[in-house]
Amino acid sequence: MWESDKDDLFEGTGAARGGAGISPQRMGQRSVTAELTSDDLDVDRTLRPKTLDDYCGQERVRENLRVLIQAARDRNEPLDHVIFSGPPGLGKTTLAGVLANEMGANLHTTSGPAIERTGDLAAILTNLSEGDILFVDEIHRLNHQVEEVLYPAMEDFFLDIVIGKGPAARSIRLDIPHFTLVGATTRTGLLTGPLRDRFGISYRLDYYSTDELARIVARSAAILGVEIDAQGAAEIASRSRGTPRLANRLLKRVRDYAQVKAEGSISWEVAAEALAFFEIDELGLDWMDVKILDALARTFRGRPVGLTTIASAVGEDPSTLEDVYEPYLLQQGLIIRTPQGRQATPAAFEHLGIVPPVQK
Ligand SMILES: Nc1ncnc2c1ncn2[C@@H]1O[C@H](COP(=O)(O)OP(=O)(O)O)[C@@H](O)[C@H]1O
Ligand SMILES: [Mg+2]
Repeated sequence: MWESDKDDLFEGTGAARGGAGISPQRMGQRSVTAELTSDDLDVDRTLRPKTLDDYCGQERVRENLRVLIQAARDRNEPLDHVIFSGPPGLGKTTLAGVLANEMGANLHTTSGPAIERTGDLAAILTNLSEGDILFVDEIHRLNHQVEEVLYPAMEDFFLDIVIGKGPAARSIRLDIPHFTLVGATTRTGLLTGPLRDRFGISYRLDYYSTDELARIVARSAAILGVEIDAQGAAEIASRSRGTPRLANRLLKRVRDYAQVKAEGSISWEVAAEALAFFEIDELGLDWMDVKILDALARTFRGRPVGLTTIASAVGEDPSTLEDVYEPYLLQQGLIIRTPQGRQATPAAFEHLGIVPPVQK
């Protein structure tokens, strides 16, 4: 569960700001990673919803945005700055596009690590027009100098730029158009306080229910021209770890399988067979998830363990563990976080088929 209170309690533990990068090399090896892979890019464009009506699930966020968009449009003003947080693949980038589309605004896309110097930011901001939307992905990875320049730009729509060097240096103030900054981050806890405070609107995206994912699978199948029945869609949905990006990816795998083995049509049997063939278990866990659970249950025998200890046991970066792997395991009730550390739950022992140690 991506709940504010629970999450806030632990945010900031371990994941140093700016150091929370998810290594692309490593992520690339992961079969059910929710990170974007090159494989996704082609179909991604066609499957990405463009309107709030097409966007399935996240009802609270959707209804909220509907009101805010309507209000801004009625007043003929740009939207307030918005930040979306949540694990990868839940629809943050998609929402940025939806906002631009619903506002009838131009969308400019960049990311925290791509803006290296304040000059880069100045170039981007001075190129915007009134009402444009600037989407900054991985906004928690902006460097400090760039962030400082961003504050007045967000708040009062001006830039202070220093021209020249040494004694001849002088500062000039540039007005910039009223724009809307849309930021995305894996966790709001990774943002600095001053940056977080400058967003008027903040949403956490939650993992999707199986029903919502089944609707997404059905929608995507229709776009791709694949025949699928309700049970087939539900089976794919239930193994997609609450994540639309994975639901779409599994759909593509199953489609390939169906094309070769089942004349292209996806029933429950075909979906289940295909997913077993591709080694996606009933919970959608992959080898890294299983390795983490195994370390907690077998190596540490169900005792509470600190994040860095688990990280070194499984050979993964602590912040990646915390941002990418842990949220889903927590949501599934396979691990819990206690003040003493992470612990495997009885459900984890059961899933792994290990007998829990007798508690003393
Ligand atoms: N609410 C949704 N309804 C339908 N499809 C979605 C939804 N959210 C995400 N998707 C699909 O999942 C893919 C990944 O979403 P994306 O916005 O890139 O996630 P994020 O930016 O949070 O990592 C998109 O290409 C889109 O097709
Ligand atoms: Mg994204």
